[in-house]
Amino acid sequence: MSGPGEEFAARLAALREAIRGHDHRYYVLDDPEIPDHEYDGLVRELERIEAAHPDLITPDSPTQRVGAAPSESFGEAVHHIAMLSLANAFDEDEMRAFDRRIRERLDAPPADGCTLEYTGEVKIDGVAMSLVYEQGMLVRGATRGDGVRGEDVTANVRTIRAIPLKLIGPTVPARIEIRGEIFMTRSGFERMNEAQRERGEPTYVNPRNAASGALRQLDPKVTASRPLSMSCYGSGLVSEDAVLPHRHSDLLEVMAGWGLPVSPHIRVLTDVDACLAYHADIGRRRDSLGHDIDGVVFKLNDLRAREIVGQVSRAPRWAIAYKFPAEEALTRVVGIDVQVGRTGALTPVARLDPVFVGGVTVTNATLHNQDEIDRKDVRVGDTVWVRRAGDVIPEVIRVVPERRPEGSQPFTLPECCPACGSEAVRSEGEVAMRCTGGLVCPAQRKQAIRHFASRRALDIEGLGEKLVDQLVERGMVATVADVFRLEVADLAGLDRMAEKSAQNLGDGIERARRTTLDRLLYALGIRDVGEATAAALATHFGSLEALRDADEDALVEVADVGPVVAASILRFFADARNIEVVDALAGALSWEETAPVAAGEPAPSPLAGKTFVLTGTLAAMPREDMKRRLQALGAKVTGSVSKRTDYMVAGANPGSKLDKAQALGIAVLDDRGLMALIEGVDGA
Ligand code: IVH
Repeated sequence: MSGPGEEFAARLAALREAIRGHDHRYYVLDDPEIPDHEYDGLVRELERIEAAHPDLITPDSPTQRVGAAPSESFGEAVHHIAMLSLANAFDEDEMRAFDRRIRERLDAPPADGCTLEYTGEVKIDGVAMSLVYEQGMLVRGATRGDGVRGEDVTANVRTIRAIPLKLIGPTVPARIEIRGEIFMTRSGFERMNEAQRERGEPTYVNPRNAASGALRQLDPKVTASRPLSMSCYGSGLVSEDAVLPHRHSDLLEVMAGWGLPVSPHIRVLTDVDACLAYHADIGRRRDSLGHDIDGVVFKLNDLRAREIVGQVSRAPRWAIAYKFPAEEALTRVVGIDVQVGRTGALTPVARLDPVFVGGVTVTNATLHNQDEIDRKDVRVGDTVWVRRAGDVIPEVIRVVPERRPEGSQPFTLPECCPACGSEAVRSEGEVAMRCTGGLVCPAQRKQAIRHFASRRALDIEGLGEKLVDQLVERGMVATVADVFRLEVADLAGLDRMAEKSAQNLGDGIERARRTTLDRLLYALGIRDVGEATAAALATHFGSLEALRDADEDALVEVADVGPVVAASILRFFADARNIEVVDALAGALSWEETAPVAAGEPAPSPLAGKTFVLTGTLAAMPREDMKRRLQALGAKVTGSVSKRTDYMVAGANPGSKLDKAQALGIAVLDDRGLMALIEGVDGA
């Protein structure tokens, strides 16, 4: 017998399972398999059936994530096993001491079958979370609080789509507490702050505060609208029926199998040296992880060995957090200077009391532009938070208003260029104020020449910043073309310039005379023309002549060139002063030209959208040049191997990337294979 109710029940079950599966792929594995509109279709169908049959709604249905009404306050949640914190290590010695203590306590090598190995995990900078599942169903989410008593934030936690409302699989115990970190990705954080700003609502200083704020909203609808995620790193109280692995790494794998989000960066490490290498490796990749981490965590992998080692009052002895240098720090703004960039943009820069942040001492931080200064209201004398992540330019992220000295004044950019006195203007739709002095402005001239000589442009060895400043200040070089008129004898007369260095610089200039069209185009410093665009223009037009003659219609045919970039190129070649420089360069330099792509012919691009990773030393050309060539053909070139990589190109002495590519079964090409592929594409 099968009534209509049963029919709906079956469809409901199928829909829920499908949506759960897609949520898992999207939010946990980061690997969706259906387009958004198809997913939306499934959700709409589910909502429709549930609306018609409310009796068939179950609490674990994907529609029931945002259920509860706003509450007055959070209830208390008791942790039957305390949520501990971690001891810290800040250097190699402290890590080795940790390992020694463990070995002593375990009487290593352990005799009773315990293995002494560690797991390495990233220490996500977020909010600690305890999730309780009963019969597989999520019944409680609680913050850490003081370790024993936290806040019951179940209604909010249910809205986080990385967290399954139901665990799946035969090994799920009757009751299990899962522990992990709730966090916000950097991109999610930026998007959310942008939305807050647009609505005129307060923004958050960093993803950690934003995650904590989102979790503590009394209205779960608000939490649902914030991009929260979770990474699980262990268990708490578990019911007696549970049959779970004895190794932490295996347990995490089992948890992932139940549908829980587990970090992909966990590794099993066999000794302290491997731990140090892991710390260094994650440190290098810290900026590309997509979320903030403040260190890595090492834990004894054998759960029975953990019992032997034990804990002190607040922290286990079997684990340690090996911290990275903080990326944010407090300091004081002692002044605000205005710098003039290559294209005349005036950039306000905060001069700071020196502060150690991101592993280096920082004395300057960018304030970006007037809008940013206004938004943050940064003034001289203010105490501010400064952030320096990786190689990114340090920036002031927030003022501490309570510490503002009396009588301070808002800062406004000057109306004249501080370098040449020309008027500074802000064009419509632009955030930057720009000096209108053009090449009259010595600051712009210096920047233009520095850029021209830089490694990815003409790569003139020996022509550094200080030297450019001198050459411009002494009137020896006014435009980039003048560089090629310099004589070794002139150079030898400069400050701190020994004969040998003058000769080396002369040689460097000579070597730079042979170049490529894409490097030259990039070196010219045309506004909006970066390396990839320069490469695309060079490939498309083949010669400087053809590019100079191109009108807007011809320009926008090039991949990635839109009306804005086209306008910048046209403006550049319409300026007689630029033409003079370009003509002089054409006389001083040589590069190869090729036939242009015929008008109307679609760009040949079987490589378009393909992702390449280059490693090792390529024989055909430097990696940078190869990168640009591939980009010009529409390919993407990234720094790390993932399952989305299409080709790995390995030159001599490849690194560990090659092993990873092979492990992932990615096509590996050598130089010749790559050239064959390219030639097959552009017929070069
Ligand atoms: S283990 C007893 N593993 O760092 C073990 N904690 O000071 C304690 N955290 O509040 C936690 N990533 O929220 C562990 N992979 C990780 C972690 C991690 C981040 C947080 C955790 C805790 C704090 C420890």
